[in-house]
Amino acid sequence: MQATVRASPNIALIKYWGKRDEKYNLPAVSSISITLDEIWTETKINFSPNHKRDILTINNVQQDDTRRVSDCIDSICGEHRNFACVSSKCNFPISAGLASSSSAFSALVIAINQAVNKGYELQDLANEAGKASGSAARSMLGGFVELENKKNKIQINQLLQSEDWPLRVVIAITDSQKKAVSSSEGMKLSSKTSPFYNSWVKNQSEDIDEARKAILSQDFLRLSEISEHNCMKMHSVMWTSRPSIVYWNSATIECMHAIRELQKKGEFVFFTIDAGPQIKAVCLPECESKVVNILKEIRGVSSVLQSGLGQEPQIK
Ligand code: DP6
Repeated sequence: MQATVRASPNIALIKYWGKRDEKYNLPAVSSISITLDEIWTETKINFSPNHKRDILTINNVQQDDTRRVSDCIDSICGEHRNFACVSSKCNFPISAGLASSSSAFSALVIAINQAVNKGYELQDLANEAGKASGSAARSMLGGFVELENKKNKIQINQLLQSEDWPLRVVIAITDSQKKAVSSSEGMKLSSKTSPFYNSWVKNQSEDIDEARKAILSQDFLRLSEISEHNCMKMHSVMWTSRPSIVYWNSATIECMHAIRELQKKGEFVFFTIDAGPQIKAVCLPECESKVVNILKEIRGVSSVLQSGLGQEPQIK
């Protein structure tokens, strides 16, 4: 009745922003991501008839609110179950736009399935992870992952394995505080108030097709162009929500300019930004040290994390 699973967050290149079904947390758009490896969440779950309620600790701090985790366990095990003790550790800042929920919930659903021997298939578990947090479904696979919107569910497909195209990711941390507007709240606001929301949803499949082609042909410049464009479109939807949602700070913009300068000098690097102020620079391995050296000197960048592309979650 216990299991431990380590999973890595993923970073979307073609973003998910908006939901078509709040109850099942189904995304309004398909998305494409890369799964990381050097940064991870490790989750241990232990079910026991002796527990009086679900207990959740994150990085050794007991949490008051276990709702999302308890709902996820109920959804897989049913409500007539033993309570569980869930302990989760991350080696990176949580709730700051580094997609900690993606690694947390992908690790959790696999750990539950393993601990109670449910025998769920990968796609079912991906739907369970996605119900808890949309981006978590993509961390169920390694390398380059497409999340496809199907009729009443989602499907995840691996486009390339990490070894096929071993890109590097440099993450500049510009603020590690919890973000002011959660992704879920932000998406709700954008879908109701941004005049750009409908066109964002409508045009997503073109970006998905373009990125898929770029990935399958390992065309870095093509992937770079469509990823930055899709990122800027998502942030335009955020900025034009009412009230406006601006996750960036001045260091985020400085980093963006610095990456544009590197591109002008012929370096193979592009940026992407999620629901937080961190900049994620995706690059070819030979450009990594230059990218790190430039980003870490920018005022407001407190630290720089480096990662390759990784595998699906591992049962320990
Ligand atoms: C900007 O997966 O955190 O990172 O489903 O409400 O938990 P919920 O949202 P979440 O949203 C991620 C949004 C994003 C873009 C992306 O990862 O695709």
